[in-house]
Amino acid sequence: MRTLNVGMIGGGFMGKAHSLAYAGMPMFFWPAPAVPFRKTVVDINDELAREAAARYGFESWASDWRKVVEDPSIDIVDIVTPNHTHAEIAIAAAKAGKHIISEKPLARTTEEAKRMLDAASEAGVKHMVAFNYRRTPAVSLAKKYIEEGAIGRILNFRGTYLQDWSADPNAPLSWRFRREVAGSGALGDIGTHVIDLARYLVGEITEVMGIANTWIPERPVSSGPVDKLGTVKSSGDVKKAAVDVDDEINTLLRFENGAVGSLEATRNAWGRNNFLTFEIHGDKGSLYFNYERRDELQVCFSDDPDDRRGFRTIYTGPAHPNGAALWPIPALGIGYGETKIIEAHDFISAIVQDTEVSPNFYDGYRIHVICDAILESASSGQWVKTVEQLPAAR
Ligand SMILES: NC(=O)c1ccc[n+]([C@@H]2O[C@H](COP(=O)([O-])OP(=O)(O)OC[C@H]3O[C@@H](n4cnc5c(N)ncnc54)[C@H](O)[C@@H]3O)[C@@H](O)[C@H]2O)c1
Repeated sequence: MRTLNVGMIGGGFMGKAHSLAYAGMPMFFWPAPAVPFRKTVVDINDELAREAAARYGFESWASDWRKVVEDPSIDIVDIVTPNHTHAEIAIAAAKAGKHIISEKPLARTTEEAKRMLDAASEAGVKHMVAFNYRRTPAVSLAKKYIEEGAIGRILNFRGTYLQDWSADPNAPLSWRFRREVAGSGALGDIGTHVIDLARYLVGEITEVMGIANTWIPERPVSSGPVDKLGTVKSSGDVKKAAVDVDDEINTLLRFENGAVGSLEATRNAWGRNNFLTFEIHGDKGSLYFNYERRDELQVCFSDDPDDRRGFRTIYTGPAHPNGAALWPIPALGIGYGETKIIEAHDFISAIVQDTEVSPNFYDGYRIHVICDAILESASSGQWVKTVEQLPAAR
């Protein structure tokens, strides 16, 4: 069986998730399309890099990502660093002929994302952006229902991503609150996942009308390189610095196929943890998904008898997309790890079979165009179109 050597850049939260996916993928998907070998992990922080190698099962570690890009034995460069590093690493990796998976958002800006797309397309390598939530089996099941016409013509998409880890003003100013590192705030961090789901399930977004707020304008300066996602609170008289990104986004959406919709994204919604939801209304039925109950898809169909019509719950299991590879009984529990395992499987399959994988850098780029339009609309108070900038390369 073929082996593909992985060089992973970044040993934080996503470093853990991607390492688990490489280890777990052949355990679930057997025979595996290829076995990923965890060759080198890189972190600018030496201590973290050494620890990541031991903990996440890599053969070696380094503190400069160029070591991985220049290593001829590396097949896959996996970018799991903060957003400001994605473009430089991905473009160098493409030039070195490596297949690339990058965490989301693809970059900080549309311009960076476009350069990444161009470099990967020119090099002819496989490229993927890690919007893993679409790989939750219940989301894939929603896609199946839509493609089969089970809910008819889509009229409305209502998506939310609500969290509360930054609702406390004492949650530190991690890289996620700094434009020069993150690019944008809740929009790029979590709103982009909803945009990915909306494009995947409904179609291209052509026009937006947004509102952006920054509720907490300054936060205690963070210590250490890794984002603690609000789990470490500062108290007392600590140094604070300005937040220069959005805390919350609300936007209306128009789709290419005539559907309309809305998106809300905030990390300041007390009581909401990973409340990533969509409700889709078609002219023959509705679908509802909430990641906090990720084994379940709620469905309602117009042709159900009048006295039985209403949402019912389907628990995903072996009968559903990717389900046969996962666990033998519905509702044993799909986790975040499984979405990353399916993602790794689909990326590695595309490399081995020389097929396209989605979402790729084109999708990542389009999502940046849509984010720009949302922020432009929030500042102008006008609807903004997103279609003029559709590139030739897909
Ligand atoms: N798909 C998802 O659900 C999801 C969830 C969380 C984060 N993310 C994305 O993953 C990426 C990483 O986020 P995270 O939560 O893992 O961050 P993190 O802060 O937990 O970890 C980032 C790591 O990268 C290291 N690093 C920073 N600059 C580096 C460089 N130049 N070279 C090598 N290492 C470097 C840091 O030392 C740190 O260990 C971001 O783009 C983020 O948006 C995606």
